[in-house]
Amino acid sequence: MRKLLAMVFCLTIMINGGCAREEHPASAASGDSLIVVGFSQVGAESEWRVANTESMKSALSEENGYMLIFDDARQEQENQIRAIRMFIQQGVDYIVFSPKVETGWKSILLEAKEANIPVIVIDRYIEREYENLYTAYIGSDFHNEGEIAVTWLAKLLENQGRGEEPVRIVHIQGTIGSTAQVGRTAALEKAIKQHPNWEMIVQECGDFTKAKAYEVMGSILEYTKDIDVVYCENDGEALGAIAAMEEAGLKCNPNGGVIVISFDATRLGLEYCLAGKIALDVECNPLQGPYVDGIIKKLRCGEPIERIKYIDETYFDYFNITREIIDNRGY
Ligand code: AHR
Repeated sequence: MRKLLAMVFCLTIMINGGCAREEHPASAASGDSLIVVGFSQVGAESEWRVANTESMKSALSEENGYMLIFDDARQEQENQIRAIRMFIQQGVDYIVFSPKVETGWKSILLEAKEANIPVIVIDRYIEREYENLYTAYIGSDFHNEGEIAVTWLAKLLENQGRGEEPVRIVHIQGTIGSTAQVGRTAALEKAIKQHPNWEMIVQECGDFTKAKAYEVMGSILEYTKDIDVVYCENDGEALGAIAAMEEAGLKCNPNGGVIVISFDATRLGLEYCLAGKIALDVECNPLQGPYVDGIIKKLRCGEPIERIKYIDETYFDYFNITREIIDNRGY
């Protein structure tokens, strides 16, 4: 059945002028020809995640030829596995999922493979040894994001003449075992080994949420306020940590205050950057829906795809951010 629907879909596209023009296939609105996609999202823990869900929903919309079955796993891997199993039972055409953590996917991916349903992994990665169990990946190079952050920090300290001075770092991590945490943490830990004057005074999990980071930072401040850098693994955590520091009377600013480093570069994060409270915000691009749409449509037409795609990302800091950049931000 799926093969038949695919043939009808591709035929429609060919009639309408080939795959290059298939963004709004004429047949899409008529029930049967919709591409059925099951999408298991990790949850809604951050602004980034909400933007990612929105991007997927608008790219995989009915007007664009899809019937999307969306499942919010509420931060539980078991819920994701259950949802994927349900998608398999429903016989969807494609499964898309954003894995909470890297491990624990082998069995369910084998089930999808046996059912012949292509799986597209988005955002975070799964263990490399199971790369053959999915069709494509689109997401961020989290280790590179971390490298951008630590390189920037080293340069800032150097420019401020603090290259050799002791640097006391608080590290608030994201969900442990997620690629976003693993990559960003690895880059910081490596940099600390390379800079003998950098000291990690605390490393705690903030679970990518503002509330948890606020709580964690609050307890850190109870025993020390002697902090030079707070390395948060997303904007939500940065906002929570900043709130706790300001309540404790600390100033967050790259010129003389605590240097706060963050990831995501959401509009709100960039507002904080403009105010100097976040010194550096490394972009993590959640707008992955159009890429997934592109991959699916290529697969349906038997065209080659880029199996592993890292989205292009940049960074914003207190020194280069402008009001115009924030106003033009899509999320
Ligand atoms: O996996 C992407 C990360 O997860 C984003 O940095 C964060 O905001 C999200 O919750």
